[in-house]
Amino acid sequence: MNKFYSYALALMLTAVVCLPQLSSAQELSKANAPTWVHNALEVVGKQAKGMLKDVKKNQQTPRSIERGLRASSDWTSGFYPGILWYLYEYSGNEKWRQDAATVTAYLEKEQYSNHDHDIGFRIYCSYGNGYLLTGEEQYKKAVVNAAKALSTRFNDKTQTIMSWNANEERDWKYPVIIDNMMNLELMFEATRFSGDPSFTTIAIKHALQTMKFHYRSDFSCPHVVDYDVETGAFRRMDYNNGFSDPKTAAWSRGQSWGLYGFTLMYRETGDTQYLAFAENIAEYLLNHPNMPDDMVPYWDYNAPKIPTMRDASAAAIMASGLLELSTYSKEGHKYYKAAELMLQSLSSEKYLAKPGSNGHYVIKHATGNYLNGSEVDGTLIYADYYYTEALLRYIKLNNNQSIFSYDPRQ
Ligand code: GLY
Repeated sequence: MNKFYSYALALMLTAVVCLPQLSSAQELSKANAPTWVHNALEVVGKQAKGMLKDVKKNQQTPRSIERGLRASSDWTSGFYPGILWYLYEYSGNEKWRQDAATVTAYLEKEQYSNHDHDIGFRIYCSYGNGYLLTGEEQYKKAVVNAAKALSTRFNDKTQTIMSWNANEERDWKYPVIIDNMMNLELMFEATRFSGDPSFTTIAIKHALQTMKFHYRSDFSCPHVVDYDVETGAFRRMDYNNGFSDPKTAAWSRGQSWGLYGFTLMYRETGDTQYLAFAENIAEYLLNHPNMPDDMVPYWDYNAPKIPTMRDASAAAIMASGLLELSTYSKEGHKYYKAAELMLQSLSSEKYLAKPGSNGHYVIKHATGNYLNGSEVDGTLIYADYYYTEALLRYIKLNNNQSIFSYDPRQ
């Protein structure tokens, strides 16, 4: 166990010392947790099972009711197999393991694909989780191959990974999006798996540039930042998702990607500048005057007309990120309680589907891209994925366990 995990574990031990200890994966589903948590995971299991027949028939993965099943190249293809791996982790049930392995294999060719930065979402949530839970060599290789593919999008001048390709219509020469922070996790894991430090070096450079150029002084950020590929210079902030004014937009899912991303940067490097940055983002979000009482954000914190549509995916990602941050931060208790409230809200009738309804998706009231009118106030497979992840983290923290308890590094 490295020193950062030891530190995290020590904090958790202090926070939840009175709770019983778990000893194996199979016990998570029987672990001490409020009934609403186990009920929610039962819904996740039923909904995931309800999707499985169609997934297997088409060898494609679900994205949303609006967009249906998608080919493996879709940015969301890793989330459904990721949910199946989490259900295996929760239950220890071999059936989930087999289904997770079957669906993960549909993404096989994506480990070599470098058409955008989303290879991290595709491969880490599927193959990455597969490796952490089974130790199978083929999954480890896929993570390293994917990191190699993602590395081809790094540029020495800009010192960042190019998230999307240049776009003349939008006047983007080298667009970097905040979501890209999430895909750095793959790079650290690939260095551990391969011994090649270049992946970690790229991740650190990307994170440092993102801190410098992507964020405003209040720790909010726009979706897109464009760089000059010739000189490496910052060109401008822009939007694609979130509100259209890049000076004020604070797209809620993007803020959650950033919070989660800088938290994982601290986990992986132990560099306290990332911890402070993640805490500052958390403070901006938790103290935002437009944060609703139930802590499920609107689609943009600074949208022109509040109240407006919610984005439950932003709450799910934020809850999972805050639970990890709670294990490192002096403000840990506050972050834990905020995440708990988000999860309680998402587990209420308003947001949690009844089994068999909602197209077999788990979470309601998620928003893909409000201004584009795409997947608005509906379902999103990544809302379901991060909700499931956050529930598992919540159980572990309530049972005196590291949130990485199944990681072979432990
Ligand atoms: N990563 C794309 C999105 O969050 O919509």
